[in-house]
This record gives sequence, structure tokens and C-alpha cells, in this order.
Amino acid sequence: MATETERPLTDALTAIKTRRAIKEYLQTEIPREWIEELLDAAHWAPNHKLTHPWRFHVFTGAGRERLVSARQAAVRWAAEKKGTQPSEDELRFAREKCFSSPVIIIVSMVGDENKITDQENYAACWCAIENLLVAAAARGLGSYPSTGAWIDQNFVGPVLGLTEKERPVSCIFLGYSEQKTMAKRLPVEKHTTWYTES
Ligand SMILES: Cc1cc2nc3c(=O)[nH]c(=O)nc-3n(C[C@H](O)[C@H](O)[C@H](O)COP(=O)(O)O)c2cc1C
Repeated sequence: MATETERPLTDALTAIKTRRAIKEYLQTEIPREWIEELLDAAHWAPNHKLTHPWRFHVFTGAGRERLVSARQAAVRWAAEKKGTQPSEDELRFAREKCFSSPVIIIVSMVGDENKITDQENYAACWCAIENLLVAAAARGLGSYPSTGAWIDQNFVGPVLGLTEKERPVSCIFLGYSEQKTMAKRLPVEKHTTWYTES
């Protein structure tokens, strides 16, 4: 990960392989143009029939306060399901997560009545998310996608002003980090089959 004064740019393969899910962030602000560069990278993701199904909702600084009600509503809902009340700790944790990185981006999608188009749009959103994560890694920034219970029309929907046709896909935490990471993957051969003969 880069130090706060550096602005590196690695090649794509290095960024893909060094990107890790980062959970601990410094609160150093990220310049708006840098975030815009990452959104632009996301926007270049493949999307069938150029539906541009993604919508990016960017929360920084005090703007992150807007997320607290959504995240806490999900905590209350989970407790209610268990027939209990949420603890103060759970509600505090939900609030703290909303301020845990200097930038939080929620990606929502425009759905489609056609099931296949809808699936394609959802898949395209994840292509966009991966583009953003990899571009962030290329620039020395930490990130991770999160699809917790609050990433739901019922909770974060009202905060984003989503219409019925739209739905939240994922939240992305983004910022500088000094977290030590460990890469874990099985060898790709384990999951690959080659067909070279008729
Ligand atoms: C669709 C998707 C949803 C994810 N949701 C969460 C999440 O809700 N919480 C979380 O901590 N990590 C989440 N992650 C991050 C993964 O846990 C992480 O990528 C995985 O542990 C591998 O670590 P690495 O990305 O550092 O290689 C999600 C990743 C994907 C692709």
C-alpha cells in the first residue's frame, strides 16, 4: 500500500494480484479527482448492450452520517427477527462502520423486467466494482466490497432515493491503509479444465 504522499500507478496484473480486502483505514481525505478517476475506471467495465446499469453514490466527510440510519435499521431488523432488541454495542458498531473509511461508495443497479437482461446488468455492476477495486489498488489505495444485510432496498434504498426499478448491489470502502495483508488463493489449475482434443 502507498504512503499518503505517494501517488503510484502500477500495471494491471500487479494491481489485480496485490489488491486485498482492506478493513482498517486512515482517515486521510482522498481528493475528489482521485475518486472520479476510479469511478471512470468502473464506468469502462463491460456491460451488455451498453445499458450502463450502475449508479454510484459517493459518501465522504459528514456525508457519511446519512448512512448511519440505514445501517442501524438493518441491525434493528436482525434483532427483531431473533425476537430481541439490538444492543448499544451493535448500534455503535453500525455507526462506526459508516465512518471507518474516508470514502464509502454504494453501487446500485438499474434492474430490468427481462430476467436475462437483469442478470447481465447485475454482472456488469460487479465488473464495474472490480474495475474500481483494481484501479484503487493500482493507485495504492485500499478498498473492499461489502454486501451486508443493510445493502438492501429496505434499508439503504431510502437514503439513496432508489426507485422500485433500482436496487443496491454493494458498498465499497475506500481509503489509505497501513493494514498488513495476506493473500490467499488456491492454485488456478485446481479449478481449470482444458479441452484440447475433439
Ligand atoms: C460479492 C462479494 C461480497 C463481499 N461481501 C463482503 C462483506 O459483506 N464483508 C466483508 O468483510 N467482505 C466482503 N467481501 C470481501 C471478501 O470477503 C474478500 O474479497 C475475500 O475474503 C478474499 O480476500 P481478498 O479480496 O483480500 O483476496 C465480499 C466480496 C465479494 C466478491
